[in-house]
Amino acid sequence: MRVINTIHSLRAYINSIREQRYTVGLVPTMGAFHEGHLALMRRSLENGDCTVVSLFVNPTQFGPKEDLEKYPRDFNRDSQLAADFGVHALFAPTASEMYPEGFQTHISLPKIRSRYEGEIRPGHFDGVAAVCAKLFNLVQPQRAYFGQKDYQQLVLIQRMVCDLNFSMEIVPVPTVREPDGLAMSSRNAYLSPEERAVAPRLYLALRQAAEMAEQGEHKSAAIEEQAVHFLAEEPLIKVDYIKVADAEMLEPADLGDRPAVILGAIRIGSTRLIDNILLK
Ligand code: PAF
Repeated sequence: MRVINTIHSLRAYINSIREQRYTVGLVPTMGAFHEGHLALMRRSLENGDCTVVSLFVNPTQFGPKEDLEKYPRDFNRDSQLAADFGVHALFAPTASEMYPEGFQTHISLPKIRSRYEGEIRPGHFDGVAAVCAKLFNLVQPQRAYFGQKDYQQLVLIQRMVCDLNFSMEIVPVPTVREPDGLAMSSRNAYLSPEERAVAPRLYLALRQAAEMAEQGEHKSAAIEEQAVHFLAEEPLIKVDYIKVADAEMLEPADLGDRPAVILGAIRIGSTRLIDNILLK
């Protein structure tokens, strides 16, 4: 596996891959690899793509009071895992390589950025959009792989790729879960054993909400209320939101003929967890 730290070397590497007519798959990550990341890499490798994983803890998507400093980082472990997995190249730039002095371009998707996660984390999705646009320009992949666990991020990226005419496909990859249902996330590492024990309640609440919908409840308010109530029974959990939305545009919606998603975010101690369930 090639480890690449500069944009100059990345461009040279991508040019050589293109000359050999390989397709390129990009897996954007912030490191701290778990089974969720490996599922993205597996999907890219199975598609036969020359697989470039980016490892960059992007400072512009963290708010001033968020966990940028304490975000888990273990470059040696991650690069060993990626190499053992068969990844072709790991792009791990510094922040000054990605954002040199004078950088000021801003990408904003006003509707998506202001709802749900965006309401609680102002500016977060602008940071995600800008870094992904840069990665797409640099790597020029045929496909980029994103986890469905960060559903709002996935919709944002799909919208941006469509709006800005990036010539590539966004491949959604299903959420990987622990045996008790907790969605895999780098932030799970922050949970104490006591907090970890109650964390699967988020997925349980979403499952119950999905069952309510399957049994014919159409009113999103009723579904959301019951899930919030179930979560609030656990004193360690603070609910940020449970919302039913249309799965394509993420507009709040009652259930009808269109695909829908139930999005949830909670806090356990100082750790935020998000998850979602798609309704057919
Ligand atoms: O999902 C993530 O890990 C990040 O938001 C991403 C897509 C790598 C952008 O920094």
